[in-house]
Amino acid sequence: MTLDIQKLRTDTPGTNTCLHLNNAGSALMPRPVYDAVVEHLKLEMEIGGYEAHARALPAYERTYDAIAEMINCHRDEVAIVENATMGWLMGFHGIHWQKGDRILTAEAEYASNVISYLQLARNSGVVIDVVPSDKDGQIDISKLEEMITPDVKLISISHIPTNGGLINPAEEVGKIANKHGIPYLLDACQSAGQIPIDVNKIGCDMLSATGRKYLRGPRGTGFLYVRKSFMNQLEPPFLDLHSAEWTGKDSYKMRDDARRFENWENNVAGVIGLGVAADYYLSVGMEEASKRLKSLAASARDRLSQIAEVTVQDIGQEKGGMVTFSHDRMTAEEIKATLARQQINVSTSSVTSTRYDMERRKLPTLVRASFHYYNSEEELDIFVEAIKNL
Ligand SMILES: Cc1ncc(COP(=O)(O)O)c(C=O)c1O
Repeated sequence: MTLDIQKLRTDTPGTNTCLHLNNAGSALMPRPVYDAVVEHLKLEMEIGGYEAHARALPAYERTYDAIAEMINCHRDEVAIVENATMGWLMGFHGIHWQKGDRILTAEAEYASNVISYLQLARNSGVVIDVVPSDKDGQIDISKLEEMITPDVKLISISHIPTNGGLINPAEEVGKIANKHGIPYLLDACQSAGQIPIDVNKIGCDMLSATGRKYLRGPRGTGFLYVRKSFMNQLEPPFLDLHSAEWTGKDSYKMRDDARRFENWENNVAGVIGLGVAADYYLSVGMEEASKRLKSLAASARDRLSQIAEVTVQDIGQEKGGMVTFSHDRMTAEEIKATLARQQINVSTSSVTSTRYDMERRKLPTLVRASFHYYNSEEELDIFVEAIKNL
């Protein structure tokens, strides 16, 4: 099945107003997602928030099924939260950390995750070890295996980093983690919606993702997957009357499912919109979507690398839809501002988001152009011309 790009663009009103290459920041919502969110807000306005929720319960509950379908798990293994970070934090701090426990991570790790490792190292004496990258720039699988000792409590990596095209070999990492019986947390914030994700193939115990990026959902939505067989090894760092029940004066009981990682109040319209976004993605086709955005990005890399002043900075054996580059004469911020005046949206990626990787490669702040399947060939031409004309 090939994608009907014109139809997908018609579904995406934003394609009429800008050339959006900031899909790794927050993608353009398709019309059905927008409609679902606005409709629900309207219902809240008309009949009250709790009443609207009750009426929209099937759509709300559908979100758990849609996400489960998308990542190949059971709906009871899905918690819906306000962003990827909150999902990740609930899983990460659910582990019973002890002094001397080791965390193995990768060079492309995201700043927020590393800050949590550092906080734990400072407060609890946990040790952080960064697995080096191989010659292609992805996590070195043989080094990962060599670094495993009995004190490794967690393997925790970013699937696709915030700063480029790299796709880390999540399945290979999963094989090592499972072989040694080590819990595995995958930050899939940038990969959900960009490449197909199957938690069983990957072999992760926890996976966090966000709604607004490649999934094209509303802002302020995210989810955490926790494998059923692993769930009882974790204790959510925060509980409330949604994640647990106050069963007696001196007792409480946690929920049996992954909603124990949620809390009571949330953005119901956003959750419904997230489900519509996941269903939309399923209807587009995960494989086709990924193939298309990868091929647009590959073509962009190829054409940008022919511009004398441009250096494409993406690493990895397998690359996704995010293209990063530097320019001999202009800073990333200057380029972003210049493109913005032409209604071309890109973002920038600096050392503070992925310090291990960017320090090792001695990179300046980079321009990040992230392609989605709905970007057109004509948009690619306009973008490349704009870079030539800088
Ligand atoms: C790799 C990675 N992980 C996590 C996050 C945080 O996601 P959120 O802002 O939804 O919490 C980002 C955001 O850019 C990211 O790139």
